[in-house]
Amino acid sequence: MVKPAIAGGSPVRNTKLYYGHQFVDQADVKAVEEVLTSDYLTCGPKVVELEKKLCALTGAKYAVAVSNGTAALHIAAMAAGVGAGDELITTPITFAASANCALYCGGRPVFADINPNTYNIDPVSVQEKITDHTKAVVAVDFTGQAAPLDELLEICRRKGIVLIEDGAHSIGTKYKGKPVGSIADMTTFSFHPVKTVTGGEGGAVLTNRGDLYEKLLLYRSHGITKDETFYVNESHGSWYHEQIDLGYNYRITDIQCALILSQIDKLSQFAERRRKIVERYNEAFLQIPQLFVQQEIPESDTTRHLYILRLRPEMLTIDRRGFFDAMAAENICCNVHYIPVYWHPYYEKLGYKKGLCPNAEKLYEEMMSLPIYYSLTDRDVDDVIMAVRKLVDYYKK
Ligand SMILES: Cc1ncc(COP(=O)(O)O)c(C=O)c1O
Repeated sequence: MVKPAIAGGSPVRNTKLYYGHQFVDQADVKAVEEVLTSDYLTCGPKVVELEKKLCALTGAKYAVAVSNGTAALHIAAMAAGVGAGDELITTPITFAASANCALYCGGRPVFADINPNTYNIDPVSVQEKITDHTKAVVAVDFTGQAAPLDELLEICRRKGIVLIEDGAHSIGTKYKGKPVGSIADMTTFSFHPVKTVTGGEGGAVLTNRGDLYEKLLLYRSHGITKDETFYVNESHGSWYHEQIDLGYNYRITDIQCALILSQIDKLSQFAERRRKIVERYNEAFLQIPQLFVQQEIPESDTTRHLYILRLRPEMLTIDRRGFFDAMAAENICCNVHYIPVYWHPYYEKLGYKKGLCPNAEKLYEEMMSLPIYYSLTDRDVDDVIMAVRKLVDYYKK
């Protein structure tokens, strides 16, 4: 039974439309099948092939493929030297992992506010939050648009701080003509199924710095090395290896890598479709005064991961929660990215208080994420636009 639409009449769609979905084709299935009958399910050639492909795609010198984007952020924070008493500055409008990586290392996340138009971290706020304890900045390319990397790099260089770009949303994006992955000290990717490219799960850290690369390799796999130039003691023979630091098992399987490799072959197709969807949404919503459209960042040639619909509550008789529910009644299932990280009870327990980042908190109260993914048809996009128009017409002041 389809529920009646809150705004009245029959719903815009009879079937549910979700906000994100992976696209897996026969080439992907074949790539995975080949690995399943090969000699290596993990630690094999597909891992190396993926790392080489990520370097070729981004221009980064080194890539370390890991089990997920959270693991990538954790080892990046470790490689940046974040430890007990250190601070790591990030945005509240992100998935908790961008901040949790500091906590994993015994450090403390510090939240800088966002630019109210682009929704990316604001370099002015970053500057204000820097102390003698700041070790790293994690800048998220929110929705896929590159963070203000030049401004952030300038601040970080001046202060001796490591810049980690959380590129979970932005594989395929270029900043001032350069692909993300080759710009910050380290860039992390996620290959979760809602992301543009998926491996089921998966992640990677990219860097141009050899010293960071060596650390990332160690932390990915227990802190164990088989490279004798790092041995503390004498080798016992060809089986010998040493644990010289404390790391984790953050390895990725060859099965995941094969899927990610095959997906990367479709990245330009994926990017193009996502770009078209953004254009259609922007064109429609720029004509509706009750909506605020996220500013396109001219420096960013963007592969878009999310599309944010933002309400102007002063012009509507309905709030975000009501609008979200009304969209669901139209069978358009949205999501919200993100609850400000420090609003989560765990962070409250650590002493973080509401009010820290007003721009981020205002955005949270007004936004929702609309469907955007490769296989979304023009008809689907029209349905979303029709539902938004219907609700705005019904609820406008
Ligand atoms: C901005 C951001 N950072 C980090 C992550 C963590 O990635 P993963 O889910 O692969 O661990 C995500 C994924 O949801 C994300 O959106």
